[in-house]
Amino acid sequence: MNVGLTTEILPAGEAAVAAAARCLKEGGLVAFPTETVYGLGADATNAAAIARLYEAKGRPSFNPLIAHVSDLLAAERIGRFDATSIALAQAFWPGPLTLVLPKTTVCAVADLATAGLETIAIRVPAHPVAREILRAFGGPVVAPSANVSGHVSPTTAQHVQSDLGGRIDLIVDGGAVAVGVESTIVGCFDAPMLLRPGGLPRENIERVLGRFLLQPPDDADSEADAPVAPGMLASHYAPRTPVRLNAASIEPGEALLAFGPHALPGVDLATPVMNLSPRGDLTQAATNLFGYLRALDAKAARAIAVMPVPHHGLGDAINDRLRRAAMGRE
Ligand code: TXA
Ligand code: MG
Repeated sequence: MNVGLTTEILPAGEAAVAAAARCLKEGGLVAFPTETVYGLGADATNAAAIARLYEAKGRPSFNPLIAHVSDLLAAERIGRFDATSIALAQAFWPGPLTLVLPKTTVCAVADLATAGLETIAIRVPAHPVAREILRAFGGPVVAPSANVSGHVSPTTAQHVQSDLGGRIDLIVDGGAVAVGVESTIVGCFDAPMLLRPGGLPRENIERVLGRFLLQPPDDADSEADAPVAPGMLASHYAPRTPVRLNAASIEPGEALLAFGPHALPGVDLATPVMNLSPRGDLTQAATNLFGYLRALDAKAARAIAVMPVPHHGLGDAINDRLRRAAMGRE
């Protein structure tokens, strides 16, 4: 375990970016903001650094990591693009989209980061702090969400500190993130497949492709050794408190995660109530989702009741994370 490290926290800025790049070069672990969630970065070509990263997160090592790069040119050094993947990259990068592609023969990313797969997940983040760190470091950076494996993803530097303080070298604090759910992952196979709904709505992707994205096979949730969408393990994103979905009323002792302007029967019994978006806006709801789940989890309620959230746009990703939260921890 890396426990016992002193975790430095620096406000985003020139000094923090320089410290982050230096730390990555030395094989250190640096948490930094992206527009989706905070990531925990390591040098993608340094197997020892990646081993420390898996250890710090307590992450099963068959679950591969996303390589973050600064632009399409850098992405083309590690992943083999075709017409479809180029079109998606040009339409949505930088931004909350991850593409899974065949690795190039010269791909310098360590096998440990891709869990021995022939494919690699690549993303060009849009957050200015992430971009500055990537530019200053000058190579690919693997960055899973900066939480303990199986826990809710962090949307503030404080979330990172409470999960990983003492286990990582540096946290760059760039304030609360904008999107609030992780990137959408598209597998660029013979036919493009939605491997994880996320911060880029599937409708936007399908509009650019002029076709529907395939769904992963049903067993993608299984804990098999080599799942098709390895990250979609059922136990992800789970708070400690039980989560009850599609609540139509509130039981005594429950906390409420509300959505929209309408009050539920029994709402006066709920302690406390947090509303993802009182005006029913899905973008705002995505931004608030993980922070509110953490805050309600800390209240030690009997359960967290969750009102229904519509399934279009970012609602796809929100419902996916809520469903996983309701499945509970291992
Ligand atoms: O928004 C995000 O994507 C954030 C920020 C920090 O960039 N990162 C993130 O990473 O969510 P992580 O490690 O929590 O989730 C990455 C997902 C995992 O579910 C992993 O299984 C999947 O990407 N993945 C990585 N490489 C893959 C591959 N070659 N094939 C299929 N899935 C892959
Ligand atoms: Mg994660």
